[in-house]
Parts: sequence; structure tokens; C-alpha cells
Amino acid sequence: MKYWVIVPAAGSSRRMAGSGPPKQYLQLAGRSVIEWAIAPFIELANCERIVVVLAEHDRHWRKQSLARHPKISTATGGAERVDSVRAGLRAIAADVAEDDWVLVHDAARPCLRDTDLSRLIDELADDGVGGLLAAPLVDTLKRADVSDRVQATVPRDALWRALTPQMFRYGLLDRALRAEHGPGAGPTDEAQAVEALGLQPRLVRGDPDNIKITLPEDIERATRLLKSWSAS
Ligand code: C5P
Repeated sequence: MKYWVIVPAAGSSRRMAGSGPPKQYLQLAGRSVIEWAIAPFIELANCERIVVVLAEHDRHWRKQSLARHPKISTATGGAERVDSVRAGLRAIAADVAEDDWVLVHDAARPCLRDTDLSRLIDELADDGVGGLLAAPLVDTLKRADVSDRVQATVPRDALWRALTPQMFRYGLLDRALRAEHGPGAGPTDEAQAVEALGLQPRLVRGDPDNIKITLPEDIERATRLLKSWSAS
């Protein structure tokens, strides 16, 4: 079985304060966020190629130590995450088979554990749909009104946080992501696009520490996590 990896890295980091590089290029524990994000896939057996999808005028990727890795190629992304993932699929279209697995992993998730990646691949090996790493919600959920007052408590039973990687066969994912959408109305993950075809992706329990760097304080948290993992 062959695996192809797409790493969408074309986001503009709107929620990160300051004028520094986009969040995927911030440094933590001796490497950039994107290098940490890609690292678990470098040694993945039967991984054909890793496609890193970059913003049109990206100036940072070529300075990364992985930029010249023989398994890695690049593509140019689009306005929304889904457009960037589609660009990644186009980049492999000539070589991939319908049944090959495609793993999509956010460049902004530096804390993916090798053990989670292996479990995702093992648990989905015979799955007819595919699936994603996810973590059950543990906090009580509140729905707010416009002035940040509690409107309702939302039952959290059976609610999970969707993480990445998300793993689907190329043919299915390509079909799911081809659906047209209006500006800002695209699926926010691959699973949502597959769900729109009436299918039910499998939720594979993953480490809740597989966080997406979104706010400045996430960098500190991810640094602490990565340092504690390398010390243990
Ligand atoms: O914006 P958000 O944090 O949800 O982005 C998740 C991932 O998708 C990030 O790695 C980001 O770089 C990527 N992305 C992309 N193209 C976009 C928007 C986001 O590749 N147009």
C-alpha cells in the first residue's frame, strides 16, 4: 500500500499577533513548526511523496532544512485550506492510484506523535471510508450570545475535536474536494467534504496535545510539550 502526504502550509496566520513570519515558520525547541509537523512522515514506510503546499509568495520555505529533501515537493495553495489541499492533490494526480492513501496534515500542527500516526494508519488499513485523528471533548461546552453571556450548555456527549492527519483514499478524497463551494463556505477539513458525500469517516482517538498553533500562547505550549517528550 502506498501513502502520499499533503501538508497545507499556505495560510496567512490571521489570528497570530505581530508582523513576524506565518505561524508555520515560527521556531520552537530548535526547529520550525513546519519541520516538526513534517518530521513524523519522513520515516513513514511506503511514503511516496510529501507535498508541501505553500502560499504564492512564500519566502520562508526555501530556508528550511527539509526544503531539499528528496521525498518532498511543493505546490502553490489557494484562498482557503480546501483550495490548498486540492492543489496538493493536483500535484500528485499523474502518479497516484485511486486506491492509494492520502494523509493530509496541517503544517501548523507540530505535536503529532509517531504512535498516533501509526495507530491512524493501522486502524484505517481495511476501512472502506477512511478517517481522522480526533480527541473526545472533556470540557463542558457553553454557547454564547452576542454579549458573551451563556445562552445554553451544549451536551458534550459524543463530541470530538477533529485533528490531523486525516486519511482517505485518493479517488474518494479527490471526488469529495471537487464539490463547488462559495467564498468562505468550503469544508474546513477533509472529513467534512467526505461527509457531504453521505459517508461516515472513522474517528481514531488521538493525543489531545496534537494542537494547531493558532494564538501566540500556543507556541509556548507546544515548546513545553516537545521538550518534555524529548526529555522522556
Ligand atoms: O487557518 P488554519 O489554522 O485553520 O489552517 C490550517 C492549516 O491549513 C495551516 O497549516 C495553514 O497553513 C493551512 N492553510 C492553507 N491554505 C489556506 C489556509 C490555510 O494551506 N488558504
